[in-house]
Amino acid sequence: MCDTKCVILIFIVYLCMEKELNPFLVTSYKNAFHFCNREFETEQLKKNIQNNVNTSLFAIRRVGKTALIQHVFNYYAKNPKVVCIYVDILGSLNLKEFTNQLATVIYNRFPENKSIGKKIISAIKLLRPSISFDDFSGTPEIKFDFIEHKAYEKTIQQLFSFLDQQNLKIIFAIDEFQQILEFPEKNVEAILRTHMQSLKHTHFIFCGSNQKMMYEIFNGVKRPFFGSCSNMHLDFISETKYATFIEKIFTHYKRKIDKESIRFVLSFTCCHTFYTQYFCNYLFAIGKKSVQLDVVKKIALEILKLYEPTFFQYRNLLTAAQWQLLSAISKEEKLFKAHSADFIKKYNLGTSSMVSRGLEALLEKEMIFFNSTVEKPYYETYDKFLMRWVQIK
Ligand SMILES: Nc1ncnc2c1ncn2[C@@H]1O[C@H](COP(=O)(O)OP(=O)(O)O)[C@@H](O)[C@H]1O
Ligand SMILES: [Mg+2]
Repeated sequence: MCDTKCVILIFIVYLCMEKELNPFLVTSYKNAFHFCNREFETEQLKKNIQNNVNTSLFAIRRVGKTALIQHVFNYYAKNPKVVCIYVDILGSLNLKEFTNQLATVIYNRFPENKSIGKKIISAIKLLRPSISFDDFSGTPEIKFDFIEHKAYEKTIQQLFSFLDQQNLKIIFAIDEFQQILEFPEKNVEAILRTHMQSLKHTHFIFCGSNQKMMYEIFNGVKRPFFGSCSNMHLDFISETKYATFIEKIFTHYKRKIDKESIRFVLSFTCCHTFYTQYFCNYLFAIGKKSVQLDVVKKIALEILKLYEPTFFQYRNLLTAAQWQLLSAISKEEKLFKAHSADFIKKYNLGTSSMVSRGLEALLEKEMIFFNSTVEKPYYETYDKFLMRWVQIK
């Protein structure tokens, strides 16, 4: 009886370990081993940091911007003279919420029991915030409630300049930075740019997924941020590098996957990082010691089935014409000539101006993206699983 119990227990532990150890991450970052490539971009970011050059990091969604920042932060993690701070401002709707978010991440970044932590906490308390605790995580949240808009500007300046004077190198990453364009206060760019100029030991990484808005902020000649940062573009990981990574991980865990299967995965996901990670995670989770093409194809269909309710939702949220255009783009995979008579006729899309309106709406809803960083720009469906689903329908 005991033997049976032991076997069951070992099996459960094994399952839990397997679950915990899925090496293909689909959220966040773990360590360098689980991170594929990006050597050039990592070095570039480190070089910018060493040379006090601020960075603006551009890429479409789910390609790996946040993970790259975490990877670079991981490199500095053991250096007591460098403090890395990360904030995602997608949830901030105005200057007040932005200020509160900045103060909260700073407050939570320094351990209370260290002298620097004590200094930061008392400096923030001097600014008279209210401190509450998040219902779920229990972490402190800083809230300022000023009447005057100017008071928030001043608070941001105080927070940054206080940090800058601590004899540390501060690396401040602000993710989804394009969100500042949504704030009702239209001078946030100018405020930040002005403060940035006066800081000596603080390096910024501004990162965002909305290409159009990010370009507007950093490449608009009349904008405060113009020329203030080194622009960095994050592309898809190359097929060769991703294939080596997938093989490395499978081999490390004493499993096999043939080259044909890897090629299928990467072609199915177009090397888009999130979709590739998701597919590999799923493949790894089935627990097979040796993975071959027939299994990979079966998993591909399973994934599409799993996502089907979401695709139906997308369809219901779009007009018939928008869905028709999205289907056409998905079928083309890369659409180079959106206004060509051939394309419009092939998919029965009406007129060129109807296509223009459709493209605008789909870009706005982030159902498609326009890749303008290559010699021949093209439109492509964002969600690779949706693209494949449409293709087999
Ligand atoms: N170089 C990489 N190697 C392995 N997984 C990665 C890599 N870059 C990103 N990922 C994974 O891909 C997913 C999307 O990455 P993320 O950094 O959130 O994209 P973005 O910030 O561009 O939207 C995450 O699950 C992340 O863990
Ligand atoms: Mg991100």
